[in-house]
Amino acid sequence: MPGVVWDSLHGVDRVAYVSDFAQCVPGTRIAVLVESIPMNPKHASAPLLESILGFVDREQAPFYSPGHKGGRTFPREFTSRLAEMDLNNLPDTDTLHCPTGGILAAQELLADAYGVDHSYLLVGGSTAGNIAALMTTLSPGDSVLVQRNAHKSVIAGIIHSGARPVWLAPAIEERFGLALGLATKQVEDALDAEPGAKALVALNPTYFGTTPDIAQLGRVCRDRGLLLLADEAHGPHFHFHDELPLAAEDAGADTVVQSIHKILSGLSQAAVLHTRGLDPARVQKVLQLIQTTSPSFPIMASIDFARRQMVVDGARLLGDALALARRGRRELAAIPGLEVLGREHVTGPSSGFFDLDETKIVVRVEELGLTGYEVQRILNRDFGVQPELGGTSHVLFILTIGNDDRDVDRMVAAMRSIASNARGGSRAERASSAPATAAVSNALLAIVPKVEMTPRDAFYAKSRAIDFASAAGHVCAEVVTPYPPGIPTLMPGERITREILTELARVRDAGCPISSSDPTLGALRVVS
Ligand SMILES: Cc1ncc(COP(=O)(O)O)c(C=O)c1O
Repeated sequence: MPGVVWDSLHGVDRVAYVSDFAQCVPGTRIAVLVESIPMNPKHASAPLLESILGFVDREQAPFYSPGHKGGRTFPREFTSRLAEMDLNNLPDTDTLHCPTGGILAAQELLADAYGVDHSYLLVGGSTAGNIAALMTTLSPGDSVLVQRNAHKSVIAGIIHSGARPVWLAPAIEERFGLALGLATKQVEDALDAEPGAKALVALNPTYFGTTPDIAQLGRVCRDRGLLLLADEAHGPHFHFHDELPLAAEDAGADTVVQSIHKILSGLSQAAVLHTRGLDPARVQKVLQLIQTTSPSFPIMASIDFARRQMVVDGARLLGDALALARRGRRELAAIPGLEVLGREHVTGPSSGFFDLDETKIVVRVEELGLTGYEVQRILNRDFGVQPELGGTSHVLFILTIGNDDRDVDRMVAAMRSIASNARGGSRAERASSAPATAAVSNALLAIVPKVEMTPRDAFYAKSRAIDFASAAGHVCAEVVTPYPPGIPTLMPGERITREILTELARVRDAGCPISSSDPTLGALRVVS
């Protein structure tokens, strides 16, 4: 009932059924017990709900995804009616698996807006899109060129499709410890060695906003007769502003996957798959296998809204976001001890770092004697500023059309304060508080393990967990990914070496979260 306050049940050891809400006027604390059942008092709490509400109540300056920044970019009619819009497949609402009504119309408008043949609404994020793109285009045994810093959803697509990956090491920005994109020559060389490759999976952009020369990669793919499958999870806005990097859909990619939720006005999990030249029946068949039969209508409607917002007003909104980001960049770069990844770091045409999305602000904090993780913690705890992530030597701020001047003022002031306090410490103190440096990441990024089995064979092989320290020599049965930079160090089917174990232990000890079956790296799963 609107206006009724559901009070905390702490201290109550009986649960209450309230029979008649009509008796409660707005502001009433519900305390009417009609019938009671015994209850363990711990169930009076809802820890996830409480912690999320606690975060929301703190009103942080939001430099993280989703792009709507707490609903700022939605009209009130959308946010206030979310629960009402949470419907099921009804004659009036359409069906995602075989759309004929509103969903179909929204997909057709998306395809028109992005200039592709077909677009599909995704409610499982770009994760679903990457799996679908690979399952649609690849069959068991097909060889596919994939950059090593592919997102784990690409690896999921490789496992699902049974394809054989040929891994390509991305270019690396050593000062910031970032994995970048693919250089054109490297792809051409790989194709000379693997002429039968069916597709190239390329990131455009990376998490950090850097892009490869996607137009050239598109040309190479067309000339050599392979498909370009673009993971554009972080680039759904590129198509709508001239001062953003070239979009893969404008470079002739055959499939493009975009997380609307990361950057635009999409609710979490809102994403799209665009295709060109593919059989729509085949794409739909795959999507029917991997998407839920109960898709969230608020998520799908948010994609429709985001598309309309971009087509109608995208150039202005993105122009404002770029101007705001450029001001933030200038002010951050002027703070002693900070370095901002900018266009001056771009390495040129054909390289793995051809362009930069300036709305992503990567700040190198190593000179402060602090890790990115520490800076992220201080920003959150002391300044109410929440970056997207902290790494060994940097923090990443994501600006979108949902940020405003106050956010940037707060973030710059916080970074200025952190920098001046950090510089106040002694050299020795700073050195000991910064065990993690970009070099830790760089050493990890340089590792290229030997592939012994396809990821699919290793994934389905019998496996067992063994002590981490004794795993050298075994074939890995899982994906082990330090976050950030989010590049798998080991994948199913790869030979584990002593060097790999040493470097993984170093990043773990530097405080970098590891995604694996045992995030503490006490054990590793290996093929039996
Ligand atoms: C490059 C890249 N691709 C795909 C994904 C998966 O996107 P989603 O979270 O929308 O499933 C991510 C998520 O961070 C990503 O960074």
